[in-house]
Amino acid sequence: MTLLIKNGIVVDPVSKTETCQDIFIENERIAKMGEGLDLQADQVIDAAGNYVMPGFVDLHVHLRDPCLTYKEDIATGTAAAAAGGFTTIVAMPNTKPVSDSPEVIQYVTEKAKEVSRVNVYQVGSVTVGMAGQEMSDIEGMYEAGCIAISEDGKSVMNAQLYKEAMAVAAKNDMIVLAHCEDINMVNGGVLNADAHTSGLGFKGITNAVEDVIVARDIVLAKETGARLHLCHCSTKDSVEMVRLAKEAGLPVSAEVCPHHFTSCSEDITGDDANFKMNPPLRTREDMEALREGLAKGILDVIATDHAPHSAEEKAQSITKAPFGIVGLETALALSYSELVKTGLISMADMAAKLSYNPAKILGIDRGVLAEGKVADLVIVNTTEEYAIDVDKFLSKGKNTPYHGRKVYGKVLMTVIGGEVAYENK
Ligand code: DOR
Repeated sequence: MTLLIKNGIVVDPVSKTETCQDIFIENERIAKMGEGLDLQADQVIDAAGNYVMPGFVDLHVHLRDPCLTYKEDIATGTAAAAAGGFTTIVAMPNTKPVSDSPEVIQYVTEKAKEVSRVNVYQVGSVTVGMAGQEMSDIEGMYEAGCIAISEDGKSVMNAQLYKEAMAVAAKNDMIVLAHCEDINMVNGGVLNADAHTSGLGFKGITNAVEDVIVARDIVLAKETGARLHLCHCSTKDSVEMVRLAKEAGLPVSAEVCPHHFTSCSEDITGDDANFKMNPPLRTREDMEALREGLAKGILDVIATDHAPHSAEEKAQSITKAPFGIVGLETALALSYSELVKTGLISMADMAAKLSYNPAKILGIDRGVLAEGKVADLVIVNTTEEYAIDVDKFLSKGKNTPYHGRKVYGKVLMTVIGGEVAYENK
């Protein structure tokens, strides 16, 4: 099978260039790149006027399988990923049972290979059952192919236990994906703690809930040498602490979710649980700090925290509904519309944050388009405005506050390992 993608604007996150080139793909890999390639292929795609970018790599997805498959399953989650331009995703361990054993790692990895072309990496939990008491079999999971640990959804509150787990991760060069939340400080909070949300009658989650654990985890990364990746940073002070940690040469990277740089708590006007996620939408000042952190390169990665829930769950009041919104099928549109179209970052910078940087953090040879590389790529249109429509989502989850929002940045086609995995028809 050969594939020729003609006349696209190829984005390179490393040289930070955009050049009009053809890409010839043979046997999973990019065989040739250049202007006006005169080659025969089984399938020819005209990408004139559109961008060709390295496939996106999402470090933060909830696939909900095993057992929470009424919210999402591996087939629908990976289909949503491909529709969003994601060719590699990292699945969080808060499933049922929790992904805390080699068996669950194997189950997800093998099932994903059966049902999808999307590359799936299953994360192992830090503690057994995510109960915060006893360390999971991290080395066993590593041997089963697990490359990262996380307690996403909460933090391990016992710092000594977390430090010991980080040391095991460091020994095996696994990444520690840190959800930073001091659970003793949450106090029933459901939205950000500020005058606007208390005016709406909801209990607040302060910035300190996140910030104290960001500080702690950076200190523990320093002591253990573990590679720490801070998940869904949402506060101004998180950005500042990441800046300081990087300045000190510590092995720290950080991600931000599209909803946190697109919206702030002022955007919540009533009791709509599609605005409820953890961490919450913060103040305008925090949102601006996140945008600045992205522009300055302090925040390395855009990750979705794709958190599908059922319509019934999210129809409840903000006080009762579970935290989380879907993100795989809106990430490109929000990133392009909010960051690139506004002139805050370039197309190449966006490619770095959606592809190259997360691939580097994972340690996989992805995120750049060059001869010899595996052909994981996405073709993107940026000139046609459209409205986000949850009825078109391939995810089971329709829980997003962005239904109907007018955006630019549409995935036309996703190619994984040289084969078309998604086509927007
Ligand atoms: O909003 C969230 N939802 N944040 C998390 O950390 C977990 C996630 C979920 O699993 O639903």
